[in-house]
Amino acid sequence: MHAVLPKSLYDRVYFFLFPRYKARLRRQYRDRALRKPNADPEKIATVFKCLEFSLVGSEGMEATYDCTRRVIRENVAGDLVECGVAQGGSALLIALVNAKFGGSRRQLWLFDSYEGLPDPTSEDYKDGKTGTHIRPLPKGSCLGTIGDVSRLLFEQHNIPRNSTHLVKGWFQDTLPVTRDKLGAIALLRLDGDWYESTKVCFENLYDKVSPGGFVILDDYFSCYGCKRATDEFLAARGTPFPIIPDGRGGAFFQKL
Ligand SMILES: C[S@@+](CC[C@H](N)C(=O)[O-])C[C@H]1O[C@@H](n2cnc3c(N)ncnc32)[C@H](O)[C@@H]1O
Repeated sequence: MHAVLPKSLYDRVYFFLFPRYKARLRRQYRDRALRKPNADPEKIATVFKCLEFSLVGSEGMEATYDCTRRVIRENVAGDLVECGVAQGGSALLIALVNAKFGGSRRQLWLFDSYEGLPDPTSEDYKDGKTGTHIRPLPKGSCLGTIGDVSRLLFEQHNIPRNSTHLVKGWFQDTLPVTRDKLGAIALLRLDGDWYESTKVCFENLYDKVSPGGFVILDDYFSCYGCKRATDEFLAARGTPFPIIPDGRGGAFFQKL
């Protein structure tokens, strides 16, 4: 459709159809998940609720739920961090799991431009494409404003403001001046799509991840630049940690 329709028409069709398509996928996810033999109704209900506000698929959201549960259950020291928040769906999921099982003891740090994506750079391309997305992602895509995310977290879901930090700006500017305010990190969720966005997160935050903490790479199998930045960084560290696919296009690993 993108190749054949004029942009304005494509955008109108896309923005009309996409929310309906997403709502259908959410219902399908819930109905199928509840029919599974070991269904966890609490997890399914939480993922279902947050999917509405997320660009992440159900498998990625379940992986985020599981990793957050594990760092809480296993008492891994540290804060919960997401770089790449958009409209706040996965951030809400982390916050709800923390509130329910972790007693809100941990700080939640949410880094984003809150102006959408930057442009990709040459490091993001392979054969003229940046990855397996269903549409191109020019500057400003995946927009969620700081007002949208504040309303979602604080007004609609009563997430505590005093332990939640929305840090607005490009990672390249905000992470170097904010990282010293963070303690150890138990969960590091990277969802900035591009090479430079992923690289700067690793450079500034990876060393703060506690042993036993999880690093989630939402775009590892879907954005070429994310995989490249991750593989380069981990290879330079000689890391032996296995990277586990989430079944949709993302992945995660536990830092041991
Ligand atoms: C795919 S979206 C995140 C999806 C979100 N986690 C969810 O649950 O829907 C990518 C986000 O990364 C942000 N982003 C990417 N690169 C960035 C950078 N270098 N600095 C700040 N924000 C960035 C964009 O603004 C966008 O909101």
